[in-house]
Amino acid sequence: MGDLNDLDDLDAAEEAHLAHLTRLTAAEADGDERAVEAALRPRSLDEVVGQQRVREQLGLVLDAAKARGRAPDHVLLSGPPGLGKTTLAMIIANELTVPLRLTSGPAITHAGDLAAILSGLNEGDVLFVDEIHRMSRAAEEMLYMAMEDFRVDVIIGKGPGATAIPLEIPPFTLVGATTRAGLLPGPLRDRFGFTGHLEFYEPAELDLIVRRSARLLDVPLTDDGSAEIAGRSRGTPRIANRLLRRVRDFAQVRADGVITPDVAHRALDLFEVDESGLDRLDRAVLDALCHRFGGGPVGLSTLAVAVGEERETVEEVAEPFLVRNGFLVRTPRGRVATRLAWTHLGLTPPRAEVSEATIFDD
Ligand SMILES: Nc1ncnc2c1ncn2[C@@H]1O[C@H](COP(=O)(O)OP(=O)(O)O)[C@@H](O)[C@H]1O
Ligand SMILES: [Mg+2]
Repeated sequence: MGDLNDLDDLDAAEEAHLAHLTRLTAAEADGDERAVEAALRPRSLDEVVGQQRVREQLGLVLDAAKARGRAPDHVLLSGPPGLGKTTLAMIIANELTVPLRLTSGPAITHAGDLAAILSGLNEGDVLFVDEIHRMSRAAEEMLYMAMEDFRVDVIIGKGPGATAIPLEIPPFTLVGATTRAGLLPGPLRDRFGFTGHLEFYEPAELDLIVRRSARLLDVPLTDDGSAEIAGRSRGTPRIANRLLRRVRDFAQVRADGVITPDVAHRALDLFEVDESGLDRLDRAVLDALCHRFGGGPVGLSTLAVAVGEERETVEEVAEPFLVRNGFLVRTPRGRVATRLAWTHLGLTPPRAEVSEATIFDD
């Protein structure tokens, strides 16, 4: 019985993950997308749209290091997926005109993996560790030492006969990226001289990104056409670029190839991404909440059954965006639709005060 349940859980988690990745509104890239993205990445800080603060701070750090002729301090980039962490890491190496060595936390399972990477670095190289919060503990400890002293101890052998061989590492710059800065152990976080936190983009910034991408992809687009796409992109350049590609498909097959507001509107309706960037699942959740449970509070499991999805799918796939954008609130007694949810669905909120009171009564 226990086994069966475990199996169920595994399936549910996996299903939630797959459901998420295949969404048009997923903030992570799937495998095929990486190649397309490479072509759209800004190559210099000047080309980066938005992120004014991080851009200025980072520019200063890099200019100062260049002026001193030394490798800059280690840089940590944190923020949700799809906002430009990998892009900025590549730009750092570009701006310093040094090679970028690329790896990721999950790829470093043993300290030895990291030692091999570190010993292959040349002076001034940029080492990019994506998803740095997912590195093994032993590798993390080796990394502190390398970041601070440009030296590591490589342990050879096991037990009483083990010996530590010190290994000098040429000065390098570590660029770490993480979606979960809170998961980084303090000692590791402290060894970064600069942390850039990426924020979600404003519609006007996404608008510029869509136009830039359309230009690079050679897609004709009217001014209002880009705004239509930008507004539905959930503050995320990766999603904006993906929606642009789907709208381009639509424009070529169902229209004359030009992306006008009308074409963009029809295309995104077809792909079920609405004016606020909500997709079919997001709307199904709000719809069930308002129509079947009077706006809540209702438990997650009950809500999941009502939309015919797994708990995990509702909780991990739909809710984060709905909560962040003020459509739904998680309370100790269950999920509650906000006024915005009701009006977004074109409904009149029932007793306005009630849902608010419910939210704060704990
Ligand atoms: N500031 C920006 N200006 C223009 N395009 C951007 C910007 N940030 C991200 N992008 C685009 O969005 C996509 C995802 O960016 P990426 O750096 O891979 O995000 P992350 O590593 O944070 O998940 C890339 O194709 C890139 O072209
Ligand atoms: Mg990335």
